[in-house]
Amino acid sequence: MKSFGCRANISPTVELQPSLLLYFQSKVFCNLMDKFRIIGGKRLEGRVSISGAKNSALPCMAASLLTSENVVLHNLPYVRDIITMRRLLEDMGCMVLMPERHTLKIDASNIKFFEAPYELVKTMRASVLALGPLVARFGQAEVSLPGGCAIGQRPIDLHLKGLEMLGAKIELVGGNVIARADRLKGNNIVFEKVTVTGTENMMMAAVLAEGVTVLENAAREPEVTDLAILLNRMGARITGVGSSTLKIEGVSKLRGAEHTIIPDRIEAGTFLVAGAITKGSLEITECNPDHIASVIDKLSEAGVKIERLSDVALRVETNGKIVAKDITTEPFPDFPTDMQAQYLALMTQAEGSAVVTENIFENRFMHASEMMRMGASITVKGNQAIIEGGKQLTGAKVLASDLRASASLVIAGLNADGETIIDRVYHIDRGYDKIEEKLCKVGASIERFRD
Ligand code: UD1
Repeated sequence: MKSFGCRANISPTVELQPSLLLYFQSKVFCNLMDKFRIIGGKRLEGRVSISGAKNSALPCMAASLLTSENVVLHNLPYVRDIITMRRLLEDMGCMVLMPERHTLKIDASNIKFFEAPYELVKTMRASVLALGPLVARFGQAEVSLPGGCAIGQRPIDLHLKGLEMLGAKIELVGGNVIARADRLKGNNIVFEKVTVTGTENMMMAAVLAEGVTVLENAAREPEVTDLAILLNRMGARITGVGSSTLKIEGVSKLRGAEHTIIPDRIEAGTFLVAGAITKGSLEITECNPDHIASVIDKLSEAGVKIERLSDVALRVETNGKIVAKDITTEPFPDFPTDMQAQYLALMTQAEGSAVVTENIFENRFMHASEMMRMGASITVKGNQAIIEGGKQLTGAKVLASDLRASASLVIAGLNADGETIIDRVYHIDRGYDKIEEKLCKVGASIERFRD
C-alpha cells in the first residue's frame, strides 16, 4: 500500500482560460462581505432557466477520482461549492480544465495526495465524498472529520461503518479519518438511516470492490441516480438504480466518460415559491418537474397554480389566496428538507396556520427567528414550526445562517414591505447560480453590495 504523501498548501487554481477564472473569482469567490438589498413588493414575471444541480455535480466530480481517464462533466452550476470541490481535486493532483462555461474536464491520472483537509471540509461537508473513491482506487484516504454545522450535528458514522463493512480499516487521528484497505470486498450494507452522501460514498467505494455489494435502504434522491448513471457510463455495474436497493458488481477498472448534470430541483422549487409569494407569473425552464413532484403537489394544495408546460418547463401563477398546508420533510420522493425554509416563508403569507415538521435535520429553523424579525408569527417547538399566516412582512436587517435559510430570507424579502438587507449571503453563493441576476431579470429589486 502507498504511504500518505506530504500535502502541499492549497494550490492556486490552474486555469487555461484566465477570463473564465476571473469571472468565477469575481462572481463566486470574493464575496465574504457581500450583502443583498431587496425592495419588496415587486411582482415577478418572465422566464427563469434552472442551472445544473450542485448536489449532483459534487459527487460526479468526486467520481472522477475513480479512473485515470478523463471525466467530462457538462451543465455544472457556477457556485462556490463547485470551486471548492475543484480545488480539492486539484490539490490531490488532478488536472482540471474548463474547456467552456459549465463544463469541466477532470484528469485524475496523477494523484499524489489522498487527503481532504480541514480547511476545505469545514467550508464544504461534501468534501467527504472523496473518501469512497480514494479508498477504492488507491487503498488510502485521509479526510478531516466534519464537525456539526448550522443545521445539526451531521455525523458521517454511516459512511465509515459502510467502508468498514467493505474491509477498510478506519482510524481517527487528530480529527481526521484515515481509511486504508488493500482491495475492498463486496458486502451487504443496510443503512440504518437514509443518507444521500453516505449512499454516494458507498456506491463509489463498491464499484471497484471485489465481488458484489448490496446497499439496502439506499437514498433514492435524483442526485444519487445521476451519479449511478455516470458510474455505469464509466464501466461500473450498478443495478436497481433509482430504487432503495442498489446492487453493485465490482469491476477492476473504470474508464473515462462524459455526462450532463441534471437540473437543480431545489433551485426550481425555490423559484416556484418566489413566483407564488410575489403573486407573479414565472416560467421555469430547463428543469425536471418529475424531480419536484412532492413540492408541486404541496404548493398546488396550498392554492398555487402550477402548470406543466413540457417535460422541462413549468409555469407558476398565483392570483388567488394561498392556503396554509402542513408539510413534513422526508427523504425523496417526499418533501425535501432543502425546500423546508422556502416553503415556511410562503406559509407566512397563507390564510390560516401551518405546521412544518423537520424530520431530517435537528436544528433547521434558524431562518424562523430571522423571519420573525420581519413580522412573521412563528413558534418553534422541537422539530416543528407553527406558522400563523397572513402577517404582513416588513423589511429588516437579517442574517443568513445556511444555504437554504438564505434562500428563504430572499423569498421573505421579495414579499416584505420596504427594504430587507441580508447579511452573509456567501451562504447562498455556495449553491445558487447568480440568484440575484436571475431574480432581477424577472422584475425583482435586489442588489448585491458591500458596506
Ligand atoms: C445531502 C445534501 C443536502 C440535503 C441532505 C438531505 C449533498 C451534498 N447534500 O446532505 O443538501 O439537505 O442530503 O436531503 O448532497 N446521518 C447520520 N449519519 C451519517 C450520515 C447521515 O446520522 O453517517 C444523518 C444526518 O445527520 C441527517 C440524515 O442522516 O439527519 C440525512 O443526512 P444525509 O442524507 O446524509 O445528508 P447529506 O448527505 O449530508
